[in-house]
Amino acid sequence: MEGEFYYPSQDAIAQTYVRDWEALAESARNDLQGFWAERANELFWFKKWDKVLDDSNKPFFQWFTGAKVNIAYNCVDVHLQTFRKNKLALIWEAEDGKSERAFSYYALNREVTRMANIIKSMGVSKGDRVTIYMGRVPEIVFAMLACAKIGAIHSVVFGGFSVDALQGRIADSESKLVITSDGSMQNGKLVELKRIVDESLRHCPTVENVIVVKRTNHDIPMEGGRDHWYHDLCALPIANGKCATEVMDAEDPLFILYTSGSTGKPKAILHTHGGYMVGTYTTLKYVFDINDEDRFWCTADPGWITGHSYLVYGPMLNGATTFMFEGGPAYPYPNRWWQLIERFGVSIFYTAPTAIRALMRFGDAWPNKHDLSSLRLLGSVGEPINPEAWKWFHRVIGKERCPIMDTWWQTETGMFMITPTPVVPLKPGSGTRPFFGQEAEIVDEEGNPVPDEQEGYLVLKNPWPAMMRGIYGDPERYVRTYWNKYPGKYMTGDSARRDKDGYYWIIGRVDDVIKVSGHRLGTAEVESALITHPAVAESAAIGLPHEIKGQAIMCFVQLKPGFGPTEELSEELRKHVATHLGPIARPDEIKFIDKLPKTRSGKIMRRVLKARAQGLPEGDLSTLEE
Ligand code: WT7
Repeated sequence: MEGEFYYPSQDAIAQTYVRDWEALAESARNDLQGFWAERANELFWFKKWDKVLDDSNKPFFQWFTGAKVNIAYNCVDVHLQTFRKNKLALIWEAEDGKSERAFSYYALNREVTRMANIIKSMGVSKGDRVTIYMGRVPEIVFAMLACAKIGAIHSVVFGGFSVDALQGRIADSESKLVITSDGSMQNGKLVELKRIVDESLRHCPTVENVIVVKRTNHDIPMEGGRDHWYHDLCALPIANGKCATEVMDAEDPLFILYTSGSTGKPKAILHTHGGYMVGTYTTLKYVFDINDEDRFWCTADPGWITGHSYLVYGPMLNGATTFMFEGGPAYPYPNRWWQLIERFGVSIFYTAPTAIRALMRFGDAWPNKHDLSSLRLLGSVGEPINPEAWKWFHRVIGKERCPIMDTWWQTETGMFMITPTPVVPLKPGSGTRPFFGQEAEIVDEEGNPVPDEQEGYLVLKNPWPAMMRGIYGDPERYVRTYWNKYPGKYMTGDSARRDKDGYYWIIGRVDDVIKVSGHRLGTAEVESALITHPAVAESAAIGLPHEIKGQAIMCFVQLKPGFGPTEELSEELRKHVATHLGPIARPDEIKFIDKLPKTRSGKIMRRVLKARAQGLPEGDLSTLEE
């Protein structure tokens, strides 16, 4: 079954704009730096680099050193000098379908400039951190690009996170400014973003100002001197002049994005202007073959790396037209997305397996009501896609005409790492092979390559321009987490297999990261939310297989004396996690337990809990205490 190839049709190949796939792959194999220099030359630099790659201080790789650049200039300003000036950059539709907004590159420049002037007027300058916490509205794009334009470092926090997550991220980044909205809409329900900001800021002394975009138009408290309505600021003279673009070093920080790891607090993954720009530009161009005729829709939220790289930066670097939808896949009806593809003539559609599985359940009649003939390419990201969902996506949505780009990558890699291109034969469930210039390997515990078809740890061998530049404020943790175990190789944290055709099959995380509906969460975050409840003595969170969400969260809870294991308490604890960490982290099940299995050194044995929960053998118990 795994041997089954899906060959792209002659039509699909004829439709691609890029022609020289083989030559590109070949040139990257032969001359990695030359390949990337050529890609970089397609973008605008205030000053070109002295060196393409500086690997003199591994694993602290640097790219395009000595160059002067600004990613926002390449996303906006460069297009104003071409026919793209009046081309649509961004089209947006509200969840309720009652409003639609569209911005040409010319209009985008106006919006970004105005936002940049306003951010500057709040005393923010190059290198300062700005936290952005909003729903999927055009202003989140303006805010990100505006920060980049003036050299401020943005830290976008997903609007589905709540107080604990937001507060921790604002505090860790020592942000000076927060940009938010009064609220956001989620399946017809109001999410009180500004109130969550208010609560978070009680313990974040570095924040001086809060800019509030009006979206839901309900009453919210505004703190005098600190909180400002965005529309009021827009009316000030200071907002409406020109704004100089900050000339940045290629290696200057662009953004930090918090992501969950094995233990402890989420890590602030750091990306920079130069390399990240070249990486996202190139991968979108070659993997999704993006062109001026396309309408590109990436359903991800800007709060995750997919939204950063392929909703905002990648499309705009390519001068593409990108579509952004405020809502989710099935509200008010399961044809919402299909309706949007038809209405806006979407040609490239990039989404996540969890959404495909959920929509597949509603049956073929919903998509079949719509004309989906504008589509030419599909994409999947975030977790392994099961062949059944892949085939449904291919047949019912793509009408067997549209190749599916199953892109494997991470917050840390910034860009696609293992991915097909539109002309390679596909296998449902495999991301095929590494992108141009990359080599992957499957290794055992000691770092020795394992034979084909055997499961092992996935590592990457070559540096790439969009690789993270570290963990903000914690260089030692960067080395320890990613580079210590297999010296010279990047440890991905995933297990995988390579088949006899050289195709890679991702199996899943080998650490304590849970993937719930493609969202990356750490067991530690869920546990620290639980521990703030007065009844909880100790807890352990694990991920269990789930038909639609990929993984579901199960929590084992040891109660404090005086509390009984009741149904009400279980429900209360689930709600507690949702309120504190975010609705996406709400545990599916709470199991009360007298004593958590631990090693003699006191570490919780999640592996044992996981096996027990699934009725599987518990494995080696020799380290279990008593
Ligand atoms: C982890 C990274 C970067 C995209 C969004 C997720 C899993 C991601 C795939 C895929 C199988 C995938 C891996 C990876 N993953 N894409 N196409 N097939 N697994 O970024 O939140 O940093 O998560 O997502 O386990 O390590 P992220």
